[in-house]
Amino acid sequence: MTRWKLEDTRCHLLLCNGDSCMRRRGEEVTLAIRDEIARQGAGQWLHTTRTRCNGRCSDGCVVIAYPEGVWYRDVTPETGRQLVRELAAGRLLEKQVLHRYGPSCSGEAAAEAATAREGLRRTNPR
Ligand code: FES
Repeated sequence: MTRWKLEDTRCHLLLCNGDSCMRRRGEEVTLAIRDEIARQGAGQWLHTTRTRCNGRCSDGCVVIAYPEGVWYRDVTPETGRQLVRELAAGRLLEKQVLHRYGPSCSGEAAAEAATAREGLRRTNPR
């Protein structure tokens, strides 16, 4: 039985392991991200979880990062490693960003989230 130490966790990556993402090298992406986490010594604060389909198969491989609420698209083993390095440096991997939530799920944050989404649409049209 696993018991993850939550006290040190700062970031959680959801690695899509649904069928479509798995056909797009999802297993390699998963292993590359986990290997890079180990190489960066980020294992105490950066947690990963394999998920089933996240509903964006055409954007696969999909990786979702919390607490930022950022969805990354077209992640390959190489960009997955890059994502870990960027997160370790406190940055997003902007070129792979598909979607970003606002700071919270509250109604007050909805307007900020809409503004952020509009900005993303302009920088990452798709
Ligand atoms: S299988 Fe990954 S989004 Fe559908």
